[in-house]
Amino acid sequence: MTMPHIAEVSADWVLDSRGVPTVEATVVLSDGRRSFAQAPSGASTGVHESLERRDHQSPRFGGRGVEGAVCAVRDEINGALVGMDVTDQEALDEALVVLDATEDRSRLGANAMVAVSAACARAGSEARGVPLWRHLAGERPATLPLPMVNLFSGNLHARGGMTIQDILVVPFNAPDQATSLEWAEGIYRSARLLLEKRSASTLVGDEGGFGAPSASSAACLALACEAIVGADLRPGVDVGLALDVAATHMVQSDGSYVLDGTTMSSQDMVTTIARWLEDYPIVSVEDPLGEDDWDGWRLAATTFDARVQLVGDDLLCTHLDRLERAAAAGCANAVLIKANQIGTLSEALAVGDRARDLGMRSVVSARSGETEDDWLADLAIASGAGQIKVGSVARSERLAKYNRLLRVARGPDAPPWAGDNGFGAIFERAE
Ligand code: PGA
Ligand code: ZN
Repeated sequence: MTMPHIAEVSADWVLDSRGVPTVEATVVLSDGRRSFAQAPSGASTGVHESLERRDHQSPRFGGRGVEGAVCAVRDEINGALVGMDVTDQEALDEALVVLDATEDRSRLGANAMVAVSAACARAGSEARGVPLWRHLAGERPATLPLPMVNLFSGNLHARGGMTIQDILVVPFNAPDQATSLEWAEGIYRSARLLLEKRSASTLVGDEGGFGAPSASSAACLALACEAIVGADLRPGVDVGLALDVAATHMVQSDGSYVLDGTTMSSQDMVTTIARWLEDYPIVSVEDPLGEDDWDGWRLAATTFDARVQLVGDDLLCTHLDRLERAAAAGCANAVLIKANQIGTLSEALAVGDRARDLGMRSVVSARSGETEDDWLADLAIASGAGQIKVGSVARSERLAKYNRLLRVARGPDAPPWAGDNGFGAIFERAE
């Protein structure tokens, strides 16, 4: 059977979940089929991320238009990919990387590249007649991922409240995908009731979590535990907590941090978070220190219980060279994978593969700016990472991904459930 080849690659702008333009790429195959995909966009971005190309010189969309990225797709990328085999994702992604030829993807733009990469993947899966996750998985151990579900947000994701960016719930003892989301919904509902009882706001942040009800991160952690109990679940037995400290955004010009109004050294940050690990059932800590504070990260890694997941987001930026450095220096034991931090789906999957080889975990993550596109759910399943971070169980750009997971879990030949990722064992000492 001859596979259809790529007849045309095109793009245009659409609006994302914050009402900001983003790239939608379309791949037309020689048999006339069309597939599309949309690029996500971060707010709490790291300096080591690949570049999101925006029309800063143009007055349109307040300088945030993506016309330059769209033109790159229609012209150069179209020229490079036309005629290629749509089912060979690695070759297509490699062609994008070679065409861009910059370290930071600033020529084409990582937003142009990721939209095209995902649209090609979707077209390839449709041409083969297999689900997207299976098309992307290849030999990888595809699994249905344990979700980290946003409950409370502060800082850049909710513009106020506590300084840590997100407190998430991890329903690690759930027996399957559907139950994990049912528990998350119960906790979210229970948290809303707690907030209403306190006459606190129930407005939600960019990822659907409630705006932090207190300027004290510890108070929010305590409230998250109350919400778990209120949902008739057991903190540390059924459900754990995860933090995205996003400490890069707390760093001052002298290298110190400001956490909940207090100026701190790296050592103080580690001591404070280590205390939270004692006081609350935390299974995962993301970005407890800034994106260039390698010494601070090492201190965190040697201070925290090694069973607690220590995730590099801004530190690693889904870049292989930074992952290698972190592994060699013993700075993190897990990597957050965001495809637009690097540029293509194949590169993002390669980072997950390398993490597995290095004995590190990975978490496939959405961005705070998302769209109704759901390719991320398939990427997470295909990667075999076993964990996904998409936001809360509210806002349809989040639910698009969760509902896709549910459809895959309920479909024929569903991949196995990832299970607890070893998180249950962290609390055995406390029993
Ligand atoms: P971002 O946030 O998409 O705004 O970067 C997500 C995260 O920090 O994990
Ligand atoms: Zn993060």
